[in-house]
Amino acid sequence: MKDLADEKITMELLHREGLARIGRFQTPHGYVDTPNIMPVINPNIRTLSIEKMKRMGMQCLITNSYIIRRSPELREKALKDGLHSLVGFDGPIMTDSGTFQSYVYGDVEFKNRDTVQFQIDIKSDISTILDIFSTPDNTYEEAENAVNETKNRLMEVQDIAEHANISGPIQGSIYMDLRRKSARIMSDSPASYLPIGGVVPLLEQYRYGELVDIIINSKLNSDFSKPIHLFGGGHPMFMSMAVLLGVDMFDSASYVKYAKDDRMLFPEGTRDLSEIVELPIWSPLYDKYNARELKSLGKEERKEALAEHNLFAIYMELGEIRERIREQTLWQYVESKARSHPSLMVAFKKILTYSGKIERYTELYRK
Ligand code: GUN
Repeated sequence: MKDLADEKITMELLHREGLARIGRFQTPHGYVDTPNIMPVINPNIRTLSIEKMKRMGMQCLITNSYIIRRSPELREKALKDGLHSLVGFDGPIMTDSGTFQSYVYGDVEFKNRDTVQFQIDIKSDISTILDIFSTPDNTYEEAENAVNETKNRLMEVQDIAEHANISGPIQGSIYMDLRRKSARIMSDSPASYLPIGGVVPLLEQYRYGELVDIIINSKLNSDFSKPIHLFGGGHPMFMSMAVLLGVDMFDSASYVKYAKDDRMLFPEGTRDLSEIVELPIWSPLYDKYNARELKSLGKEERKEALAEHNLFAIYMELGEIRERIREQTLWQYVESKARSHPSLMVAFKKILTYSGKIERYTELYRK
């Protein structure tokens, strides 16, 4: 395989509409067409087979190096045979660091530099530092500390980042000056991949208006040659808006999480399986079951079926978004979607307040 240094990610642009863009970036294990999603794979629990996910169009995935490192069995296999062999996928794989686990469960047991080194050792295509998760209810001081400590942690692995793809999360909670500062720090650093972090609570609470502020302030202060990823942002309802504001990549565990709770993803929202009378004709389940049969499946089988439906809904939406950018009708698409949920309408009105800024890029970016 080529030296990792030859494979530092930079965006190659193919089409643009405002800040939205269709592009491609290379990794040591192949390229990714953007906008795109990395489904979250738990190395311990396989809900869908990699083959099935590839048939749906999966080009890349994300898994958690913290989970791998904590399990002696997974750790040994990953160090011996590599991450790609462990997961059973030879395309681009990004690894997360355990930051989210430390946010959910408290402190994690590993340190930043060895967390990154472990990801390099198992041949991750994009490795993530142990950033500090800034939550929406942080005080200004807490959020500022998160931004500064995340910067220190990136600096601590600067030498590694010169030769490998390091993901440098943009933090800063709901404070826009901090988001702008964090975006500039990460853009000027050797990190080649920029996720917007600390937004899962906002996504879960449908606080899309605040997300618009965060995304646009992060994006406009970022190096446009580095892909922007929205951590946890893979709900089909919000993806088109995020792309309109310049997000290139998403990840999602929601296709499984919702499936576990008997919930189904649709382009405009989520429905409980119990409420469904007719399955949509586009669903990959349509030819296999009717709604009644689906409800009567055993728990595990039902979870797998719903996860397949949910991931398919995400890929279907991404295909539509890319097509809209090619035809330069993403604005109209986002506007029509805004009518499907009050929080999306709030977010759309927020986007309009930035339209002057966004239009500047429309002129610059004509095909
Ligand atoms: N997953 C969801 N949010 C985050 C975040 O802010 N940082 C990292 N590393 N992973 C995440």
